[in-house]
Amino acid sequence: MRHPWRVESTPEPVRRRDTRLDSYVDRYAARTHGMTASAIRALFAVANRPEVVSLAGGMPNIADLPLDVVGATLQDLVLSRGLQAMQYGAGQGEQEIREAICEVMRLEGISPHPDDVTVTVGSQQALDLVTRIFCDPGDVVLCEAPSYVGALGVFRSYQCEVAHVAMDEHGLVPEALREAVVALRAAGRSVKFVYTIPSFHNPAGVTQTRERREALLAVAEEADLLVIEDNPYGLLGFDTDPIPAIRSLSDDRVVYLGTFSKTFAPGFRIGWVLAPHAVREKLVLAQESATLCPPTFSQFAITAYLRQHDWQGQIKVFAEMYRERRDAMLAGLAADMPAGVSWTVPAGGFYVWLTLPPGLDSQAMLPRAVTARVAYVPGTAFYADGFGSRHLRLSYCFPTPERILEGTRRLGEVLAYEAELMSTFGTLASARPAELPSSHNAPGTNQA
Ligand SMILES: Cc1ncc(COP(=O)(O)O)c(C=O)c1O
Repeated sequence: MRHPWRVESTPEPVRRRDTRLDSYVDRYAARTHGMTASAIRALFAVANRPEVVSLAGGMPNIADLPLDVVGATLQDLVLSRGLQAMQYGAGQGEQEIREAICEVMRLEGISPHPDDVTVTVGSQQALDLVTRIFCDPGDVVLCEAPSYVGALGVFRSYQCEVAHVAMDEHGLVPEALREAVVALRAAGRSVKFVYTIPSFHNPAGVTQTRERREALLAVAEEADLLVIEDNPYGLLGFDTDPIPAIRSLSDDRVVYLGTFSKTFAPGFRIGWVLAPHAVREKLVLAQESATLCPPTFSQFAITAYLRQHDWQGQIKVFAEMYRERRDAMLAGLAADMPAGVSWTVPAGGFYVWLTLPPGLDSQAMLPRAVTARVAYVPGTAFYADGFGSRHLRLSYCFPTPERILEGTRRLGEVLAYEAELMSTFGTLASARPAELPSSHNAPGTNQA
């Protein structure tokens, strides 16, 4: 069996995919060579047309935000502290918001100190800063199979190599993590950290149990491995209180990333890193060289919102709305998917992960799905190495329940047609390998 982490000690150079039409092509730094627009980007321009039901994007639905309250808060902010709010601020972020962020993290069992929080431009910049301070070109980063496409892009841009680690319905498999670290180190590779999304995973939709989090941390301790815990969705659970964050189990092994993008609004672009105390200084220096300081106005605005509004009640309103949409998607899938399709059942967050019958290829199928006026993200987007063609991600966060049902109906028709073609003419899949190596096992539970 092929083990993708058993690679030679010298990393392969990133394959150059720039076009000669760009006259600057010879001037770009090597790190830009992995930065290419995906082939599916153009299709998404079409997918955004109103007649297409897009189950592709992960945009939060913020229509339930009380704009009158937010508007009054902003007006009050400008009139009372506008000059301070519109000035440069501290590189680490403002003290007031760092204290408020600590309150938010307490909901997931973390007992943080504001001094250890660095405010960032969304958790996307947190990913960038963490990679910047820890990773050299050729270092290996361990990621779930599948993983967040935006994180894979960051790791690629710092010329890291991603090794995927198998997941099941409880998320990252600790034993697979142990095996991967041992094999990589035996091959002389430098493994910098494991990146994980423990709650309501993007794109897999699964959540690590408390026991699973403890087991993962035990492997990390044993292997002296840093854990990057990315948790944008943890407070958007449908059924239970949040499961304690991995960071709540260890102060010095885990770097925790959070954001207000899903629990308030992404437009303010405010996220954060909670890092072990020793790491804080490097993070702040990296933040200062990247931005001088994170946006002061956004920080003041969010602090005021948290103080003046029932933000926890607002999160419950969001979660209820997403639960209704999740229910619509699960009902639609149960009604419309042809035999052999399976999917995960998320208990929170935005995403469902589908596994197609062998031979079907979600990337090859996408133009036909868009023609049938439904869009999704092919599974290959969530793997660093071209695997994932038997999977796809569906998002239920943005369309209404009625549109979701229409979307699953259209997708069901496309899949049934593809399956029929396949049974008549043999495999539709391109030259892509059909079988995943065991390191790429992805979760998929419900079966049509
Ligand atoms: C897992 C994960 N991490 C990070 C982000 C980035 O979010 P933001 O930069 O808006 O905080 C997202 C956005 O979808 C995400 O799903």
